Amino acid sequence: MTKKLVVGISGNLTRPSKTKAFITQIAGDVASRIGATSAVFDIEDLGASFPPARRLADLDPAAHDIVEQLIGADVLVVGSPTFKGSYTGLFKHLFDLLDPASLRGKPIILAATGGGERHSLIVEHQLRPLFGFFEALTMPTAIYASDKDFADGALASEAIHARARQAVAEVSRIVGEARRIELAA
Ligand SMILES: Cc1cc2nc3c(=O)[nH]c(=O)nc-3n(C[C@H](O)[C@H](O)[C@H](O)COP(=O)(O)O)c2cc1C
Repeated sequence: MTKKLVVGISGNLTRPSKTKAFITQIAGDVASRIGATSAVFDIEDLGASFPPARRLADLDPAAHDIVEQLIGADVLVVGSPTFKGSYTGLFKHLFDLLDPASLRGKPIILAATGGGERHSLIVEHQLRPLFGFFEALTMPTAIYASDKDFADGALASEAIHARARQAVAEVSRIVGEARRIELAA
């Protein structure tokens, strides 16, 4: 049996990034829980062919490979810094390139970071509808962390860690159930 893959996508435009660190941690936690490998990518990883791309065929091979991993992942962990109350424009641009059916039924953990707490509902009002469009299986627990929840670029808040654990448990149950159905078939 091939090892399962957890892919993290972070919409940060600059590095170092709290969002990428956050997504990396959650994706790693999911991977160790379900016995998978994890890979995390941000906008910079997509390289120079990505911003002007109008369709997937415009991407260079390295960017195309990232999109293939995203589409083929067993679990996605997606997140973005909050920019003007929403995800970053280039985060949306990545998903604009995908076929509408390409994420159907995909288990997804939603996460976001922001400067303060006023925009914490970005996960419900911006991210969840986007992945609803794709008919993806978003986990009920979405996670938001603000600047004060980080120390030295890493998540430090026990309350947010607990929420992340809840989302990881939800997605692990979904993957476990899918595995049982696969084995029984
Ligand atoms: C252009 C821009 C717009 C932003 N807009 C918001 C916002 O509307 N609400 C908010 O809470 N934080 C906002 N922020 C702060 C970032 O979301 C926050 O610092 C984020 O955690 C940065 O993540 P990163 O370290 O991954 O880049 C904005 C930052 C920038 C640069």
